[in-house]
Amino acid sequence: MSLPRTKGSTTLDLEEHSQAKVEFIQRYLAIYLNILENVPFINEVHVLDLMCGEDTYENGRHGTAVEITKTVVEHHRFFKEVTRNRLVVWLNDNGQSLIEPSRSKVERVQSICAPMVQHLPRNIEFRYRREDALDLARSVLHQTQSGRGTHVLFVIDPYGYKEVRPSIWKELLGRSGVEVIQFLPISFMSRFAERALEDPYPGSEPLTQHLQELWGAEPANVSSARDFLRQYVARLQFVLGNDFYLADIALETNKGNTFALIFITRNLRGLEVMINAKWKYDTESGEGHRRNMDQMSLFQPHQDQFEVALLEYIKASPSGRTNLDVACFTLKQGFPVSRAANILKPRWRSGNVTVHDPTQEGGRAKGLYLTSSSKPSSRDKKTVMIKVVSR
Ligand SMILES: C[S@@+](CC[C@H](N)C(=O)[O-])C[C@H]1O[C@@H](n2cnc3c(N)ncnc32)[C@H](O)[C@@H]1O
Repeated sequence: MSLPRTKGSTTLDLEEHSQAKVEFIQRYLAIYLNILENVPFINEVHVLDLMCGEDTYENGRHGTAVEITKTVVEHHRFFKEVTRNRLVVWLNDNGQSLIEPSRSKVERVQSICAPMVQHLPRNIEFRYRREDALDLARSVLHQTQSGRGTHVLFVIDPYGYKEVRPSIWKELLGRSGVEVIQFLPISFMSRFAERALEDPYPGSEPLTQHLQELWGAEPANVSSARDFLRQYVARLQFVLGNDFYLADIALETNKGNTFALIFITRNLRGLEVMINAKWKYDTESGEGHRRNMDQMSLFQPHQDQFEVALLEYIKASPSGRTNLDVACFTLKQGFPVSRAANILKPRWRSGNVTVHDPTQEGGRAKGLYLTSSSKPSSRDKKTVMIKVVSR
């Protein structure tokens, strides 16, 4: 069995970042499924790997389909007693196998995954489809539209950026309880961005269209792949609006190419799950996969800058900020909520920060209430006012 060349990238080039991508999605999904079991009003979850590809590649590496399946099997093994949600996993790809041309990709995926899940209980169901990704996404949204307790996660892993554009994410995320993880070839897009916008060339139409939705008529001024990614996320945030929360995870190959997972949700808790998964994956910088994970990232979000920004944010409101405001600000900056607690706690002890709890005698708060909300937590139930004391 040999891994075929794919459009635009060689087999070897694909290996490292693909592995990182699959590993990241697996970690995220494990946390996501666990958390959704603990949210009382959720009772049905759909996970769609819309472009799931082949099952197993030349080096024995599994694609997203098999790894998602393994994650669900593990989830059930560990949490047997509590897997109360109905879970439907959709594995979809409209392509013919390049490894075994007489079969479709999803047929191969099914032949590997179906035996793995045959002992799972009836509330966990696997469906295999060979449809156009967007048709399937729309049809599942339509089928589940009446379910208030239904959560839908779309994993979209295309070869490029043709099939899915920002306007389509906006459409898919039109109702709450929907989340998207999209994989994008950032280096490639950034290399051609300026030309695609300013001087479109034959073949640039998909990139031009994709970027025009974000840059409009403005020229792109891109100094590096990371710079492009930063601008891309900022513009996407602007175009989608403040109801949407975004996170990005960069994946750098040994050859120095950058790919990224873009995560979009309308739910703050959803954002928190992703930010926590990001920092679990890359404990040094929370950025993603670097060429050499032992080295600090050159692009790490500047942690000192975050400290300054957080204190400025609190100071900017004379009456202070609530713990929920602080949690929201921290997550939007790409940091776990515990980071804000670690910055504010010593200042509170030394009197540079005050915390007021209106329900306590004398307003004396017992804590900052900035815990992670992996479970319905005190953070959501308690409101305290946090102020930075100017000296
Ligand atoms: C980058 S590969 C996916 C790799 C896979 N997720 C993995 O981890 O190995 C992209 C896949 O998208 C599929 N594809 C492309 N356009 C599609 C569409 N419109 N609908 C469904 N699948 C599509 C291709 O057949 C291909 O297998």
